[in-house]
Amino acid sequence: MMKYKELINKMTLEEKASLMSGKNFWQTKDIERLGINSMFLADGPHGIRKQSVSADQIGLNEGIPATCFPTAATVANSWNVELAERVGQYLGEEAVAQKVNVLLGPGVNMKRNPLCGRNFEYFSEDPYLAGKMAAGFIRGVQSEGISACVKHFCANNQEERRMAIDTIVDERTLREIYLTAFEIAVKEGRVMALMSSANKVNGIFANENMHLMQDILRGEWNYKGCVITDWGGSNDRIAGLIAGNELEMPSTAGETDDEIIQAIKSGKLKEEVLDECVDRLLHLIFTTEEAYRKPPEKFDVEKHHRVSQKVAEESIVLLKNEDNILPLKYGKKVAVIGDFAKEARYQGAGSSIVNPTILDHTLNCFEESGIVSIGFEQGFERYGKKNVKKIEKACELAKQADVVLLYIGLDEVTEAQGLDRQSMKIPQNQIDLLNALYKVNSNIVAILSCGCAVEMPWINKVKGLVHGYLGGQAGARAILRVLSGDVNPSGKLTETYPLRYEDTPSYYNFPGKEVSVEYREGIYIGYRYFDTANVEVLFPFGYGLSYTTFHYSDIQVSKEEVSFKITNSGKVAGMEIAQLYVGCKSDAIFRPRKELKGFVKVFLNAGQTKTVTIPFDDKTFRYFNVKTNRWEIEGAEYEIMIGASSADIRLVHTIFIEGTGAPLPYDKDKLPSYYSGKVNNVSTEEFENLIGHKVPVSTWDRRKPLSYNDTIAQCQYAKGVFARLSFHLIVFAYWLLRKIGKRAAANIIMMSIYHMPFRGIARMTGGAVNMPMLDGILMIVNGHFFKGLRYFLKERHKKKKNERKRR
Ligand code: BGC
Repeated sequence: MMKYKELINKMTLEEKASLMSGKNFWQTKDIERLGINSMFLADGPHGIRKQSVSADQIGLNEGIPATCFPTAATVANSWNVELAERVGQYLGEEAVAQKVNVLLGPGVNMKRNPLCGRNFEYFSEDPYLAGKMAAGFIRGVQSEGISACVKHFCANNQEERRMAIDTIVDERTLREIYLTAFEIAVKEGRVMALMSSANKVNGIFANENMHLMQDILRGEWNYKGCVITDWGGSNDRIAGLIAGNELEMPSTAGETDDEIIQAIKSGKLKEEVLDECVDRLLHLIFTTEEAYRKPPEKFDVEKHHRVSQKVAEESIVLLKNEDNILPLKYGKKVAVIGDFAKEARYQGAGSSIVNPTILDHTLNCFEESGIVSIGFEQGFERYGKKNVKKIEKACELAKQADVVLLYIGLDEVTEAQGLDRQSMKIPQNQIDLLNALYKVNSNIVAILSCGCAVEMPWINKVKGLVHGYLGGQAGARAILRVLSGDVNPSGKLTETYPLRYEDTPSYYNFPGKEVSVEYREGIYIGYRYFDTANVEVLFPFGYGLSYTTFHYSDIQVSKEEVSFKITNSGKVAGMEIAQLYVGCKSDAIFRPRKELKGFVKVFLNAGQTKTVTIPFDDKTFRYFNVKTNRWEIEGAEYEIMIGASSADIRLVHTIFIEGTGAPLPYDKDKLPSYYSGKVNNVSTEEFENLIGHKVPVSTWDRRKPLSYNDTIAQCQYAKGVFARLSFHLIVFAYWLLRKIGKRAAANIIMMSIYHMPFRGIARMTGGAVNMPMLDGILMIVNGHFFKGLRYFLKERHKKKKNERKRR
């Protein structure tokens, strides 16, 4: 049933088509005569990035100041859904004040591999946790009357070739791991908008993938909201529209609207399909604009800053506390060392970048913390090489201190959109500093700032380790409050820290080959792998310390829920995150040893006991059966485990659960790695047994001419000399920029040129280059220089003439 049928009946075909793509980089088109306003979409996800000057995608131009909350990777560590909701609500309030209709977040992609450049923007390696946090965030944003936009749907778990890569993944893994968080965001968060990712999934662009968009999203999940393309992520506009994609972003200067009109005229597309898309888009426009009909309010900058501090405080993870070095004893003299103390590292790079209203740095907040500092030394240059002088000065200071507070981490450009990290290490010059400090003072507390997991071969040299993740604009003050003991840390990790990157299950299959990435590890990502395959880790999923201790007892299990008692057995008040894991005792269907199915966060005064209950839900015992193509339950005994982390199970109870009687989906003999969980190097043959067909060719076909979906990087083997030369120029520029220390600029080359498919030239230039002109460019690339150039110029002339006519 269409809601706005009457209004749609008044529209011309041209008007309807016009609504299907952006007016510019951030807005949709308006139709004045019918009272349809344009809608503003803004990043997202941890602050509003409404650009006041010229628009760009990757965060080059500053946005209007807004509160920079901790990023999703940080908030997730709180395991507090209400807190996520609160963040969403405050963001929603700021969005309304800035007249934003759609906030482009949250991001719920899975942390398949620790090197993904955007892991800082995502919640977890666990879909249940990510889904619950996202649903809270969405409810918060949407409580202010505007829309959130969950992204990037789906299987977009790396930045390398993010607009071209083909993700090869089996259906069960897709459902259980990569779609569950979206499912929760849709069903429980009731999100009103969803952003499709720019990659392919099993050979078809996500945006055009009928299985994803129609069977699952609209069909099974009954999603009634809008689908928006990722910026530049539209390939075949008509196929996208048929799959139910309402809005293409950003503007293509009407080029794809014309394609829609032609498709309707030629009968390729039914007008009803367009009408339904228009109807859903109108619903989004009309409902969200209600929010800012009221006179624009200014938000309370100070208050929002304090809220962001509170969120950071609850999200800090204490990873090590030898000899109870923390909280710092009253009157202890500390030496503050490390560049990050002077300039906080508080968010990542790319489209999520926020221009903060206020920014706390450790050194500026020191006095009020009550901690006695004897001085500060920079110790290392964030972007530089080892600096012996700086190390010597730091050591001089450290010698005089009782405790060294060492501020280390990753720099701003290492965690970025468009680019994955190259290793899991922190820079060597920071490790050199730590080694030197350790020789003069072994009472070191490291404070780590980064939005992802890092290797820590140096862990034995620190007594205390506080991971603040990316704490937003008030993160630095929040950390001081943990160090001083004003705040008892209560965050726990939402991703596993392997001992070495090589231990990661996707190590051999990340970021894939030239054309595709094969998810050979299947359902075993993160702790699902380490735990099942018995691989030792540095810090397990769900791990985090407190200044107090907790005791678990009295587990009781029924068919509906589990309840148990938690006692604060230490001396100070604190919060504990108790986690429910479920493991199936039957081995008829391969599974991780345990999976997260619920969690609670409880506040307890010293000595206090509380009984907590975690209800079971539709996800507690389900698995996706590839034979029946449905969620099923295996009739079996299940272990109900309550843990303080995935590796620290405190209570266990076994229960028998009736099954749905579905046939077994697998032939065990053909999937030995999956049945053992040792999936870090699955053979092609076994992976093919899992996916049920041959794996597609994963290398470029260098004989074929380059086309729309080939990337600029592929110019390396183009027939055209000009194209090959351009390729080498790009590579040289990248190399040179890195050499002279301009890594941010070098990244931009990778982000917006090197891995960009040719279609992006037309999709991302707001109409400056249209598809026929792109055809000309491709002719040049493919070795027909003069023909291509003539074609390009002719089409450019035609475009200009048409534009003049329209005016
Ligand atoms: C990113 C999205 C973002 C959009 C708008 C895209 O490149 O992938 O996350 O919302 O740009 O900036």
